[in-house]
Amino acid sequence: MALREIVTLPDPVLRRKAKSVTKFDKELQTLIDDMIETMRAAPGVGLAAPQVGISERLAVIEYEEEDDEDEGETASAEEPPKPPSPKQLFIIINPEIVKASEEKVMGIEGCLSIPGLLGEVERHEALHVKAMNRHGKPVKFKVDGWLARIFQHEIDHLNGVLFTDLTEHIWQPKEEIEDRV
Ligand code: NI
Repeated sequence: MALREIVTLPDPVLRRKAKSVTKFDKELQTLIDDMIETMRAAPGVGLAAPQVGISERLAVIEYEEEDDEDEGETASAEEPPKPPSPKQLFIIINPEIVKASEEKVMGIEGCLSIPGLLGEVERHEALHVKAMNRHGKPVKFKVDGWLARIFQHEIDHLNGVLFTDLTEHIWQPKEEIEDRV
């Protein structure tokens, strides 16, 4: 495995509509492994192939679900602490959104290809996505919340769309956020 260089604006590959993946060969497996390593090293929670200069419909996502419910105050002292939720890794090839919730939510996004900027973006709260796994087998995902947001951000990358296209509200934070995609 090897780290790939993350391309940033104004590289035109970020604006191209990426081509469907048709060959599930050794080269693709290497690209997927490299993208996972590059995402983790960045660090980021998602990375689309155009972000490493490859105009193909492929993205990797790794996200750790946060516990929303704060049960700390009601839990009895005898209950063992909950183990941290494991990180989930998704590999999505030729993804398609087949269903999107009417409900939309605002959230703050950053992008590894647009360093130094954050923006407030409205996204569908939940999605059904069909895609292929790394071996070309069909897979389906039902995602919601922050994970659904990451899926939408990555699928946008495959269509040459960046989060800055979707909002008027963009700013330069003093510190980079961690969950860049
Ligand atoms: Ni991005």
